[in-house]
Amino acid sequence: MKGVKEDSASNEKESVWRAVTKDDVSLTGDRPTGCLHLGHYVGSLRTRLYLQDRCEQWIMVADQQALTDHLGTSQLSDSVIEVVLDYLSVGLDPTKTTIFLQSAVPQIAELSLYYLNLVSVNRLRHNPTVKQEIRQKNWSESIPAGFLTYPVSQAADITAFQSTLVPVGRDQLPMIEQTNEIVEAFQARYGDGLRRVRALIPPHHGRLPGIDGGQKMSKSLGNGIALSEPPDALRSKVMQMYTDPNHIRVDDPGQVEGNVVFTYLDAFASDSEEVKSLKEHYQRGGLGDVTLKKRLVEVLEGFLSPIRDRRAQWDEGHIYDILRQGSKKAREAAQSTLDQVKKSMHMVVL
Ligand code: TRP
Repeated sequence: MKGVKEDSASNEKESVWRAVTKDDVSLTGDRPTGCLHLGHYVGSLRTRLYLQDRCEQWIMVADQQALTDHLGTSQLSDSVIEVVLDYLSVGLDPTKTTIFLQSAVPQIAELSLYYLNLVSVNRLRHNPTVKQEIRQKNWSESIPAGFLTYPVSQAADITAFQSTLVPVGRDQLPMIEQTNEIVEAFQARYGDGLRRVRALIPPHHGRLPGIDGGQKMSKSLGNGIALSEPPDALRSKVMQMYTDPNHIRVDDPGQVEGNVVFTYLDAFASDSEEVKSLKEHYQRGGLGDVTLKKRLVEVLEGFLSPIRDRRAQWDEGHIYDILRQGSKKAREAAQSTLDQVKKSMHMVVL
């Protein structure tokens, strides 16, 4: 899409997005816990845009998964709408990509129930993403069972649609590994019926740091820039961005590495020659942080402004229609997988 660095996109096509074919099926999802941000764009939404013209694609709003660690938040239903608006605003097209709601497809939960027999509690405890989240939440011995088993439910999300591709950020790799283990365990016991999947991870700028220079842009840390960020808030966030703490006077030579402004320019500026010369100037000295940041504001405005415009075109009624239609299609697809799985397990299918 316009405003996104073309050359890095084509590198990615060659190196990691290995031959996506028409036979591929992509599934991914997001927990509705707030607005999606630039990190989601770089880590996954951009890949989904690429995929929607090349293969079958399913995108799920993971409201049941959100309940595994956001119990009883009154914002859940609003967040569902926001996330779908975020999808549409970046250019995901419901006539090409099926967008659906996890809780409206009970077949997925039923599949999870069967998959729970194919994985040990110990294995789940050692899932690196789960482990890290448990540590962050200080749960130690009081881990909710639903949380511990969410990777199993995620395997059901993925396999319900016979997916072959999952476009996600790096932190989701353990989930893909877990899914493939479940697929293999199923195949070993019951024969064919499920397909292995592979993750599609962007190699460059796959992880956008927060404006504070932290490892990752994250909703909970409040260091992100939303896809729906209004112009004033965008400007003030860019002005707060972490640069080089030793670059005090304009004439001082500055560091490009670890400088968040340059990381964002690398990801969003369409003119890589310009970025290169800004880097050289900064390293030499003589380029002030404020001047540099003003340029980034322009670049990000150029990217976010059409996204804001597109967002304004949809109302809540449309969003519900999209989810209703998508979920109906999803139920049919998941039911067919479920019937096949039950047959393979020698159950009586009525
Ligand atoms: N775990 C993902 C997240 O936290 C959301 C998700 C749920 C997902 N089910 C999925 C991602 C299936 C990819 C495939 O954002």
